[in-house]
Amino acid sequence: MEAINASIGFDQRMAAQDIEGSRAHAAMLAAQGIIDGKDAEAIREGLLTILSEIEGGGFAFSTALEDIHMNVEARLKEVIGEPAGRLHTGRSRNDQVATDFKLWTRDQLDAVDQALGALIKALLAQAEAGADWVMPGFTHLQVAQPVTWGHHMMAYVEMFARDRSRIQDARRRMNECPLGAAALAGTSFPIDREATAQALGFDRPAANSLDAVSDRDFALEFLAAASICAMHLSRLAEELVIWSSAQFRFVTLSDRFSTGSSIMPQKKNPDAAELIRAKIGRIFGANVALMTVMKGLPLAYSKDMQEDKEQVFDAADNLMLALAAMEGMVKDMSANRDSLEVAAATGFSTATDLADWLVRVLGMPFRDAHHVTGSLVAKAEAKGCDLPDLSLEEMQSVHEHITQDVFDVLGVHNSVASRTSYGGTAPSRVREQVARWKEALA
Ligand code: ARG
Repeated sequence: MEAINASIGFDQRMAAQDIEGSRAHAAMLAAQGIIDGKDAEAIREGLLTILSEIEGGGFAFSTALEDIHMNVEARLKEVIGEPAGRLHTGRSRNDQVATDFKLWTRDQLDAVDQALGALIKALLAQAEAGADWVMPGFTHLQVAQPVTWGHHMMAYVEMFARDRSRIQDARRRMNECPLGAAALAGTSFPIDREATAQALGFDRPAANSLDAVSDRDFALEFLAAASICAMHLSRLAEELVIWSSAQFRFVTLSDRFSTGSSIMPQKKNPDAAELIRAKIGRIFGANVALMTVMKGLPLAYSKDMQEDKEQVFDAADNLMLALAAMEGMVKDMSANRDSLEVAAATGFSTATDLADWLVRVLGMPFRDAHHVTGSLVAKAEAKGCDLPDLSLEEMQSVHEHITQDVFDVLGVHNSVASRTSYGGTAPSRVREQVARWKEALA
């Protein structure tokens, strides 16, 4: 029973939150005249002693005492004696654990928010340095149209900024205090829930005691937002794995964020990127696991809910690790400007520019232009060269009205420079977005 019942093995991570919650509760009880001021003072000092014992590593946790809440309270009894028993007046472990866990999760949301900010800054620095470096843009992982390195980096800035706003949004929504909901029905003691909510940094007390003790939406919202962020991290990690391969050579990862092989001396493996890609599965798993724990629970508290913490702890640890590793990798990596440029020109990546030119200059309907361009691509393919390497005569054999000017749009730099529509890949647009984000983050 002890082995299946106890949560102290993991919920000791909420010790600081448990003590903070208890201090707020005791102070409120005294202010309301529910307990004596002297007892409240003894409780406060006792809790502070226990906090330093725990922080100093000198606290003996007991599985027989089940969880962090009982461990702290039992120790309080040893430290201050009889007044310890008054702390739990008008409170239950059900509202206590909901409060502690919310406080812990709220801290994590703030930490993730900060880590995302740091990652975004690293991406912005890459984007700014390479705002006009050309590279292939892909669809289906087939070369599509040239884009700029800066534009590709900025795509991730947008994604991680949305992740950040999801995290901030979750924090706003979760910031209601469960403390004082007691076991499930509230309490007959004249408690002041506004006071404890305020003392613990919540916006207000939760309005329904049944909901307050059985809500784990806040944990699920954290896991859902974490999962989406993790998915973005995994996509970027995947690109780094591909880009750092000998076939691509788009980026060189730093030695700090790669490893060698024990047998193949030439190898430089993108282990950090691969591990980010892999660890993401644990975060998705945590989300599904807790959804499944919660989906069949009648109101209000059931012990099933004790299974919430390990999922959130593990997801939070791995998300923070992945964010830190990604930030380091992005900061350290160098894009290989020349390889990017060579790759940008392969695969007839300016075929769309050619079709657009036929429309714009010769007034051709786009569908016809598409067809003519297809014939020109076939010609170049047969000749084993790229579009700009065809002679004007060869072009005119496909369509007689093509003129020398067409060569102006065929280079990759011309191509990206021309894509000046809002949100487009033109260096001018990329610089505009970099400036906008820098200002937003300042
Ligand atoms: N260890 C429990 C948990 O994590 C604390 C709440 C226990 N409440 C109860 N009524 N048994 O959920």
